[in-house]
Amino acid sequence: TWTMSNIIDDQVALIRDLVGEKEVICALSGGVDSAVAAALVHKAVGDQLTCVFVDHGLLRAGEAEQVEKDYVAATGIKLRVVDAAEHFQRELAGVSDPETKRKIIGREFIQIFETVQRELKAEHDVEFLVQGTLYPDVVESGGGTGTANIKSHHNVGGLPEDLRFTLIEPLRTLFKDEVRRLGLELGLPEAMVYRQPFPGPGLAIRIIGEVTPDRLEILRAADAIARAELTAAELDRSVWQFPVVLLADVRSVGVQGDGRTYGHPVVLRPVSSEDAMTADWSRLPYELLAKISTRITNEVPEINRVVLDVTSKPPGTIEWE
Ligand code: XMP
Repeated sequence: TWTMSNIIDDQVALIRDLVGEKEVICALSGGVDSAVAAALVHKAVGDQLTCVFVDHGLLRAGEAEQVEKDYVAATGIKLRVVDAAEHFQRELAGVSDPETKRKIIGREFIQIFETVQRELKAEHDVEFLVQGTLYPDVVESGGGTGTANIKSHHNVGGLPEDLRFTLIEPLRTLFKDEVRRLGLELGLPEAMVYRQPFPGPGLAIRIIGEVTPDRLEILRAADAIARAELTAAELDRSVWQFPVVLLADVRSVGVQGDGRTYGHPVVLRPVSSEDAMTADWSRLPYELLAKISTRITNEVPEINRVVLDVTSKPPGTIEWE
C-alpha cells in the first residue's frame, strides 16, 4: 500500500526528472489543493518554482491576504501576485449562465499565466504549469472513463486546446483527505491544511445571476458572518464546506424597523462529505442557524431573508452553479 511519504518520494523524483533545469510556475488559489501541489513541487525543484496568485476579485473576505502573507511565511516560496479584479469583472459583465462563467474564468486564468510566463521568459524558460487538480475534479469534468460531464471545473474543462504549458498535476489521482495528509507530511500548518474547500471560480458561482461589484460585496459580508459563527461554534472542521449563495435576481418582501423592504435572499449550504463526490446537508444546531440568520439580516441591509438548503448530493450539487 502507498503511504504519504512514498507518494512524496515518488512524485519528487518524477517531477525532478521531468523539469530538469527548467522553470515552473504554479497557480495558487488560496485553497488546500494548490497549496499542497506547490509545496510538493517546491520540495522537488526549489527556487525553480514561482507561484502565481491571481486575485480575480472573486475571493472571500481576507483570502488574498492569507495567501500573500501566511503561505509565503509557511513555505518560503517565491510568489507573484497579479491583481486582476477589474479585468475579471469586465469579462464577466452581463454573464449569468453558470458554464459560461466557468469557461470565462478558466480562460482568463490561463491567459494571465501565459502573460506571466512571457514576462519570466526574458530570464528563463518556463515550460511547466502546476495545478492542484484532484481526482474528483477530473471525474466530474468528464475526464474520467465513462463519466458524465457534470460541471467544467475551471482547471480541467476550461483549458484551451493550444495550451502553451506542460501541465504538472501531482494530485490528480488523490482524494481530498489524502491531499490533507500529504500537506501535513510536507509541513504545511494545520490551519491551512484543514481549510474548507473553495472553488477556483470563487464567489462568481455563488452569485446566481450576473456578477457585479455590489453583489460581491453583499455576498462577502454574509459569507464572513456565516464562516465566523461556524468557527466560533467549533464546527468548521466537521462541516465539509459551507457555501453561502446570493440569489441576486430574486427579491422578496420583508419588514424591518417600521418599513417594508424588498431585498435578496441568501441560501446557507452547509454540507458533510468525504470527498465532495456525494454529500449530505449538515444538521447544524438551530441556535447557530438562528444566530447566523439574525446577524446577516441585521448587518447586511440588502439581505432580508436567509434560507437553508436541505438537499443532498445527488440530486443537488454542493455549489449552486
Ligand atoms: P459540486 O458543486 O460539483 O462541487 O458538488 C464539488 C466540489 O468541487 C468544488 N468546485 C470546484 N473547485 N474549481 C474548483 O477548484 C471549480 O471550478 C469547482 N467547481 C466546484 C466545490 O466547491 C466542491 O468542493
